[in-house]
Amino acid sequence: MNGDDTSLHADTGVTSGLFVERSLNEIRFWARIMKEHSLFLRLGFRAEDTQLIQEANQFYRLFEQIEQTAHSFNNQTDPEQIRRFNSEVQQAATNIFIFKRKVLGLILTCKLPGANNFPLLVDHVSREANYFRKRLIELNEGKLQALPDAIIKENVFFLRIMADHAKFIGHLLDPSERKLVDVARNFSNDFDQLLFQARDLESMRPQSQTVPLLDQFLDQNRVSVASLRDFKKTARDLIEQCKIKSIIHPLLADHVFREADRFLEIIDMFDAHLTGGSSQPG
Ligand SMILES: [Fe+2]
Ligand SMILES: [Fe+2]
Repeated sequence: MNGDDTSLHADTGVTSGLFVERSLNEIRFWARIMKEHSLFLRLGFRAEDTQLIQEANQFYRLFEQIEQTAHSFNNQTDPEQIRRFNSEVQQAATNIFIFKRKVLGLILTCKLPGANNFPLLVDHVSREANYFRKRLIELNEGKLQALPDAIIKENVFFLRIMADHAKFIGHLLDPSERKLVDVARNFSNDFDQLLFQARDLESMRPQSQTVPLLDQFLDQNRVSVASLRDFKKTARDLIEQCKIKSIIHPLLADHVFREADRFLEIIDMFDAHLTGGSSQPG
């Protein structure tokens, strides 16, 4: 991979300015997400699960602090300091990942009857924590993936996340909201299809990693992500205005909207590098 390429993942020779900027961008986004996961998990526990509630609250405070620290730094902060901060945050992300997997185990062995978090949701938030910790490791090691690999991997990751979101929305809307439940189910099917396509492209690597195929892949995904993002925004507004019946927390509606928006930004960044770059690696 060429060191002069400055894409999201494709720069091996990360300059220190870029390293600081990318690190802070990831941490500001994902620390808030991790903080909110702690809240959602806590809300899903039963009143008697005091130990789990306490653990969730501790993670909430931890990621709130991390978020504040990330906002107190700026692009001029010493890269060494950011490197240490990345390690600390990576440890926190690893710990919340372990906590989420523990909760998943308790649910799947029927130790929390009546609790309100779907197993797939707990698995989903653990995958997001794992993604976050791996990004921090990559940043600190300075060896990021080649652009074509990063394009396929990120899309496989985020398409599944989007497919899950559509399923959660469909199941947390009141069953009497028939039209909206239908829309959510259609998005779920659409993203399942896109995910299978992405996995097919992945299995055809490296032969599938041509600029025209990757470009078309990004364009096709973008159309669906943009429309899911708009649906989430509408749902969020309707929930905030108390216009629809659901058990979706308004913050959860906003949370999944932000994740779709993040995926769109990543697609656009990849697209710019794919079509703008003259020397693409094979
Ligand atoms: Fe999330
Ligand atoms: Fe998510």
